[in-house]
Amino acid sequence: MNILVTGGAGFIGSNFIYYMLEKHPSYRIVCLDLLTYAGNISTLEKAMKNNNFRFVKGDITDKDLVFKLFREEKFDVVVNFAAESHVDRSIDNPELFLKTNILGTQILMDASIKYNVKRYHQVSTDEVYGDLPLDRTDLFFTEGTPIQTSSPYSASKASADLLVQAYYRTYKLPITISRCSNNYGPYQFPEKLIPLIISRALNDEPLPVYGKGENIRDWIYVEEHSEAIDLIINNGKVGEVYNIGGHNEKTNLEVVETIIDELGKSKELITFVSDRPGHDLRYAIDPTKIRNELGWEPKIRFNEGIKMTIKWYLDNQEWWEDIISGEYMNYYDKMYGDRKIISDNIKEVAIEEMATEKDG
Ligand code: NAD
Ligand code: TYD
Repeated sequence: MNILVTGGAGFIGSNFIYYMLEKHPSYRIVCLDLLTYAGNISTLEKAMKNNNFRFVKGDITDKDLVFKLFREEKFDVVVNFAAESHVDRSIDNPELFLKTNILGTQILMDASIKYNVKRYHQVSTDEVYGDLPLDRTDLFFTEGTPIQTSSPYSASKASADLLVQAYYRTYKLPITISRCSNNYGPYQFPEKLIPLIISRALNDEPLPVYGKGENIRDWIYVEEHSEAIDLIINNGKVGEVYNIGGHNEKTNLEVVETIIDELGKSKELITFVSDRPGHDLRYAIDPTKIRNELGWEPKIRFNEGIKMTIKWYLDNQEWWEDIISGEYMNYYDKMYGDRKIISDNIKEVAIEEMATEKDG
């Protein structure tokens, strides 16, 4: 089996590559990744030593390069992780999200048709369903929940999903789509909530919580996402959507407080800042379909997974410190420097620290 994994130098794609190389030693994996700010070649260092792995630096929106690679490699399966993935960045600059997430998907599917790929799998997100109210804990996203997006990021992912379904119907491209909830674990870029809070707490820096911190996310340990995708590409039904996640809901404040407790840091670091525009209230997956059809269900509870994740960030400080000392510092200044502090307990000095810390 020859598999193309796009976006494999990012968080979930790299975890998927390691999962697959170990679980299926006979598979060949080719990673196509542009190495944007979110892609890190050092993450794939260990994979590079495996003879069944090849890395290609390139853009999924580069038609010539993509078609040449498909012609050369004759892939059996394509798993598309490559995307611009951060909601806050999409609010700041939607254009790149539309290009990579929608047009990139189209080019990969055109190549999949031309070179007879047996399965095209689109890695999507529960964010395509919009959000659920905080006071209706009886409601969950199923695969039949209408698409109703909130951010340029989720709109771009939903657009790609619609295109994937259209390619199935019109061109009979054998597709599957998975829509997963919020992932956490090793190699996540420290702009996302959990690694951001771990890395900042370790440095005793203010911990930015949007609004009141009451928004709810349904957390899944990244390895379980890989396991589910492996099952879908091998046993999932062509043309189907599978939701992945389930019953690990936490408010953002609970997440931040858990990390603070685990690290033995002070709650005084929590800094409530102005909310994200259009901020989705609650995500919650109903995983009944994938459990019934493929026998998958999440086993790792949040309290266990967060301990493993914190340990990984403690054991691999060099990985994230390199990132933080680079491009990311400018990003932090830009994204958080203008956010108004709304904590009662934090003095003005905190925002100054947040805005100017790149100098420190
Ligand atoms: P990430 O931002 O960590 O990684 C994205 C990777 O894609 C990076 O390595 C980047 O270099 C690469 N990339 C970006 N543009 C590219 C292009 N034009 N050509 C080739 N490579 C390009 O993202 P992630 O968190 O690992 O998410 C991976 C996928 O999973 C995304 O499609 C995302 O929508 C989806 N998803 C993420 C989550 C989550 O919680 N992180 C949840 C559900 C679904
Ligand atoms: P994030 O990790 O960006 O994932 P997503 O927006 O895709 O769910 O954010 C998770 C939650 O944490 C989301 O409700 C926004 C919130 N958040 C903060 O409160 N502070 C932060 O600095 C960040 C990055 C996110």
